Amino acid sequence: MPKVIIDGFEIEVPAGTTILNAARQIGGDLVPPAMCYYSKLKDSGGKCRTCLVKVTKGSNTDPRPMPKLVASCRTVVADGMEVANITSPEVLDARKGVVEFLLINHPLDCPVCDQAGECDLQDLAFEHGSPKTRYEFERRTFEPIDIGDKIKLHMNRCIMCFRCVFLADQLTPERLHGIMNRGDHAEISTYIEKAVDNDFSGNMIDVCPVGALTDRTFRFTSRVWFTNPVLAHRQCNTCCGKTILWMKGDEVLRVSARTTFYGEVEEFICNTCRFEKKNAADWIMEGPADISRHSVIAQNHSHTMQVLKNGVPQYDDSQKPTPKVKSEIE
Ligand code: SF4
Ligand code: FES
Repeated sequence: MPKVIIDGFEIEVPAGTTILNAARQIGGDLVPPAMCYYSKLKDSGGKCRTCLVKVTKGSNTDPRPMPKLVASCRTVVADGMEVANITSPEVLDARKGVVEFLLINHPLDCPVCDQAGECDLQDLAFEHGSPKTRYEFERRTFEPIDIGDKIKLHMNRCIMCFRCVFLADQLTPERLHGIMNRGDHAEISTYIEKAVDNDFSGNMIDVCPVGALTDRTFRFTSRVWFTNPVLAHRQCNTCCGKTILWMKGDEVLRVSARTTFYGEVEEFICNTCRFEKKNAADWIMEGPADISRHSVIAQNHSHTMQVLKNGVPQYDDSQKPTPKVKSEIE
């Protein structure tokens, strides 16, 4: 079991663990952001470079530092390795640069994007982005495409993370999808349209880290932070049937898969559960879903919904935290 030190924290991990996954086992701020790596998708990672870290000591047998920053999602730990993430100004500077690159073509349309409030790029830009762009050329633009009647593709927002391609490849029986062209002309292939026939194609929406793939049954219905996420399940013969219902009052506005702390889907769900079961009566409610307190969605304090009325969790006002005054926040 190799031991690795990340930002001063030591951890022993099974051989073959990547630096990113070792950092996730430690947890906290030292975990590098990951826009393209997705633990459930084989071969994902290595595309976006947001997870760059500095290896200051290679291993006990070869203590030389690695000459360049490395993608933590693709670099396997070695015994005695020492890694710097948030303790390295060089890494933070590089991450800034990566965010700037990701935002070259990505439009700043968060006010009208359905992903706002749960967008990894929005969070990344907030933490590492620059308020100004230095890009002077025309941004590449595409018309939004309907891929099937349930999913909308906004290529303008795509950051080419390949997650949806891997998902369609690994969850659908035939390879009907991909990225066409190279460099600035690269785009998600329209072949992906054909993958929507598959029962699990809706999961592309959940794995997309930005608002490039959105749920047409939910688009423009509500800002996500005005909804209450509720854990629910149903008997389903196609998938696990375990979901999150995004509710407004008794109304189910959206159904999505349950996610882990790092925003990855726990178990993929089928299109019937996702798109067809929009009645509260279709589901057995379990209670409010836990939302990271850093997420803007947590601002609606839905986790304080405890009281079940007719099977539907209700907002419990008595547990509402008292808003802080400005001087307290400062
Ligand atoms: S559409 Fe979304 S998931 Fe697919 S490559 Fe673009 S950003 Fe990634
Ligand atoms: S998460 Fe490592 S390169 Fe994208």
